[in-house]
Amino acid sequence: MSNDSFPLRKVDHVRHFVNNARQAAYFYQHTFGFDLSAYRGLETGSTDEVGYALKQNDVTVWFSAPVRPGHPMAENIAFHGDFVQDIAFEVDDPDWAFTTATARGAKPWREPHTLEDDHGKVRMSAICTYGDTVHTFLNRDNYHGPFLPGFRAESEPGDPIGIQEIDHCVGNVELGQMNVWVKWYEDVLGFRNMLSFDDKDISTEYTALMSKVMASGNGRVKFPINEPAAGKKKSQIDEYLEFFGGAGVQHVALRTDDIVYTVSRLRARGVEFLKVPRTYYDMLPDRVGAIDEDIEVLADLGILVDRDDEGYLLQIFTKPITDRPTLFYEIIHRKGAQSFGKGNFKALFESIEREQALRGTL
Ligand code: FE2
Repeated sequence: MSNDSFPLRKVDHVRHFVNNARQAAYFYQHTFGFDLSAYRGLETGSTDEVGYALKQNDVTVWFSAPVRPGHPMAENIAFHGDFVQDIAFEVDDPDWAFTTATARGAKPWREPHTLEDDHGKVRMSAICTYGDTVHTFLNRDNYHGPFLPGFRAESEPGDPIGIQEIDHCVGNVELGQMNVWVKWYEDVLGFRNMLSFDDKDISTEYTALMSKVMASGNGRVKFPINEPAAGKKKSQIDEYLEFFGGAGVQHVALRTDDIVYTVSRLRARGVEFLKVPRTYYDMLPDRVGAIDEDIEVLADLGILVDRDDEGYLLQIFTKPITDRPTLFYEIIHRKGAQSFGKGNFKALFESIEREQALRGTL
């Protein structure tokens, strides 16, 4: 695309800082069905931290944990709990990316440097974004090993469930900070604002939030940014900020081409999703018109549907996957629609009200 002032190829990987990377890797392998593809730890000469890289189609997740007391990573984890620390981008030139981003106002995280092993070289650099989150820039064109230099190959296949790629990653920021970070993504990384929601779009009796969706120049990287808005009770964004200890990644949306299959498999493996009132499905045909899927099947699985000018989408949200009410996942299946399911907020609220009305408690 022309007019891309900061070319990003795509999201390369999402790195999590966790207390126990072995158990996190096991969870993602046995629920989401990722392959364990690479490992580093004491056995490979990594003397103070352990890492597991897992892969399914175009999605790579990396779990890092400290293995000694006093590691700087341990402080972050003690404060936030397990969290997404890095959304890393593949770029042509990590040196240019670092110089340009910092000249445009980004705070540096890691100066450009090279990691190297028998399989080749990876050039990397990194900048800070909201909270304790960072964006790494890396180029692996001259690397032919598993994941990154220093990792050894592992070949423990998962049982894949059709997850294709990262559709979008959502950040929660403090009240008044959404536009600050929108401008930051525009100024520093050349993103553009593709959609905005205000509290009239996304509000219920219980929660309200504002959201702006930022997209990279080539459109492949999409980052909605949320901030809380005043509701009658504490908003879900306020809850996140309180329990997380500030701004951070709220959810990662994974794209599938067969949401019924993906969600059936996740449910069978014990992943829990937000509950959807039955009344939501009574209103569905009127709201979204004809769809290919059987509404009874969607209702059994709790899959939501929304329509925009270009088509429709199916989506579902897990419950938080950590002890704290912080990080969760979305599974999304796009059938033309390029939006994010705005209609589901209102529809969910209305169906909850209808359930209340049936109970006589509205
Ligand atoms: Fe989402």
